[in-house]
Amino acid sequence: MTDWQNKYVSQDMVRASNCGYGHAHSKIILMGEHAVVYDYPAIAIPFTSVQVRVKVQANQIGRDFIQSSIYTGPLTTVPKQMENIQALVNLTRDSFQFDRKALLIKIDSDIPAGRGMGSSAAVSVALVRAICDYFNYSISDYQLHLLVNQAEAIAHESTSGLDTLITASDKPVIYRKSQKPFNFPLDLNAYLVLADSGMEGRTQQAVSRVLQLKLQQKEFVAELMESIGNFVEQAYTAIQDKNPAELGRLMTYNHYYLNQLGVSNERLDRIINASWMAGALGAKLTGGGMGGCVITLAENLNQAKAIAKAMKQAGAHKTWTLNLNKFA
Ligand code: PMV
Repeated sequence: MTDWQNKYVSQDMVRASNCGYGHAHSKIILMGEHAVVYDYPAIAIPFTSVQVRVKVQANQIGRDFIQSSIYTGPLTTVPKQMENIQALVNLTRDSFQFDRKALLIKIDSDIPAGRGMGSSAAVSVALVRAICDYFNYSISDYQLHLLVNQAEAIAHESTSGLDTLITASDKPVIYRKSQKPFNFPLDLNAYLVLADSGMEGRTQQAVSRVLQLKLQQKEFVAELMESIGNFVEQAYTAIQDKNPAELGRLMTYNHYYLNQLGVSNERLDRIINASWMAGALGAKLTGGGMGGCVITLAENLNQAKAIAKAMKQAGAHKTWTLNLNKFA
């Protein structure tokens, strides 16, 4: 077993030689969502403690079958929200001319769907890895990204490719659609608290809302995007300078501009306000918005705990805390 298989194959997925395994993890967009769709930079970090694992094996009953928390049944009759998965299985097989034997695909995910945590990209990454592992094919990152981005386009229509990249990698990245992704060490004496608003995010609607606004108010949106892009670049400098206070300030500005783009809502703003009142250095929504998650920056673990408590009192359902000095 490889290291990642030791680390990620869960108890109920006892490794067998005639099975294929794949994994991927959740992600957090630190700064720059939405603007990244229009080729401005964004910063994202892997969130490896929340994962998805996929196991693939031959299916004796002679047809492709899928088992997951959302749906269990033949691959041909998946619900609409899993059509990307259905397409991806066929696309992967066709791309590498794997034989057509029937597969049993088991998806075991800890990543909540629709929370801006990269669930759909992560499931797709793990699925392609598992199918390739099953057929003993060593897939390159380039091939993986190409396949998963096609599935993401089915799930979200318009995608920057950032989720695909970061759910498959364990390094923080500064990403711009038209440029080569740039990995960097993140070693900050601060904590990030991620809070699930308990409300499903609507990435697809949020992306089209921004597009509509852009069509109606071209200059206004161009200015907002330009500013978000500048905040992201300044945030990268703040990270290099090991200056959490500055990073927090920029996160808050970023949220204000996302609000202007119309992708926040009353619940997210309430949770963000509660974190400010509890002493956060900065806070913003993360991912597509209109629900989903918020992130907030804390100076130390005690403050992170106090902020998490305040966010729960303001309506957050679940929180996770991430030490930002672990990506050196
Ligand atoms: O909601 P998520 O985690 O899929 O993040 C979407 C991020 C956007 O910038 C809004 C869209 C994209 O494809 O980058």
